[in-house]
Amino acid sequence: MTSRLLQDGTGSRNRMTDLTLLGLETSCDETAASVVRRHADGRVEVLSSIVGSQIAAHAPYGGVVPEIAARAHVESIDGITVQAMAAAGVTYDDLDGVAATAGPGLVGGVMVGLAFGKAVALARGLPLVAVNHLEGHAVSARLAADIPYPFLLLLVSGGHCQLLAVEGIGACRRLGTTIDDAAGEAFDKIAKSLGLPYPGGPALEQLAKSGDPAGYTLPRALLGRDGCDFSFSGLKTAAARLAETVTTEVQRANLAAAVQVAIARQLSERTDRAMAAYALARGGRDLRFVVAGGVAANGAVRAALTQVATARGFSFDAPPLAYCTDNAAMIALAGAERLALGLTDSLDAPARPRWPLDAAAAAAHPSHAAGRKGAKA
Ligand code: KG4
Ligand code: ZN
Repeated sequence: MTSRLLQDGTGSRNRMTDLTLLGLETSCDETAASVVRRHADGRVEVLSSIVGSQIAAHAPYGGVVPEIAARAHVESIDGITVQAMAAAGVTYDDLDGVAATAGPGLVGGVMVGLAFGKAVALARGLPLVAVNHLEGHAVSARLAADIPYPFLLLLVSGGHCQLLAVEGIGACRRLGTTIDDAAGEAFDKIAKSLGLPYPGGPALEQLAKSGDPAGYTLPRALLGRDGCDFSFSGLKTAAARLAETVTTEVQRANLAAAVQVAIARQLSERTDRAMAAYALARGGRDLRFVVAGGVAANGAVRAALTQVATARGFSFDAPPLAYCTDNAAMIALAGAERLALGLTDSLDAPARPRWPLDAAAAAAHPSHAAGRKGAKA
């Protein structure tokens, strides 16, 4: 049983108590619920983390269909939450708050989890924390390891590809972002052109295992260019063209291997630049690097990033695989860290399809013209 929150008389919550939160995640194609306890001494315990995947529902279409996703979230959110509460062995009386993803993401899905979280908060008189999905990924490595702020983060998933200096909760500075597709999107689309099933990233990694990357030359976007932005659309187009010429299984595996190397190389080259800038800005202190998001599950990507981190004198951390891809434990932890700082949201908190972590950087350097497809933040 956790201790209840104490008010310190100034309206801010006493951070020296254990906090147990229910987290909810519905921003893409996973319906997830989790109970996380953040102890007063900063220790984190994931009491449960249930992820209901919609892969089977979207697979026939080769990608996530927003309307199908939203309906599937409606159908499963309550059952998944019941499972998460039961697996954690807690009741609603044991909770200190509810954290729900409020964006960015597919807005129909975000609305489902956020409305469900609001209902629980209202019914049980609990504080609501509206969590930015990207902040969830940013804290995800802290679910399993003691990684103090600040750190340099590469957030690399199906919807996002960003380098961020994470100073703390609510304090992220964006160093770079993709100017077109996210890396996971590139993995998925190239995998599709190779005839691999959705989701493409893991399938492409599997195929690449038996391939020789030297067989194909692919474009090296932004190589040597200033800044830490990413671009994957040229690679995607080139790989799709080459995929049409593939006739044997060996060629197919070789192309998959070449694509994986090209993506890993761009991610590590741009991260290397960000590390240099980050180290300079911090006078060589706090050299910690974290990679998070679905693409962090890729072995070749991890290996390339580990290499640059070692060369630059940075520590390297990545969340366990279960916390790389979308999950609600990271949302519950981001919520607990916010609640410990007294940061809660009202019941009219909006669902936000776009919600950059570093609003100032996003406004100063909009990476997408309005209406263009691409990374959501
Ligand atoms: O973080 P995530 O679950 O969802 C988003 O917030 O986007 O990331 C999903 C993405 C997909 O594009 C998927 O193909 C990619 O992560 N992914 C991988 C691997 N596992 C997941 N990409 C490459 N190699 C993998 N092993
Ligand atoms: Zn995600």
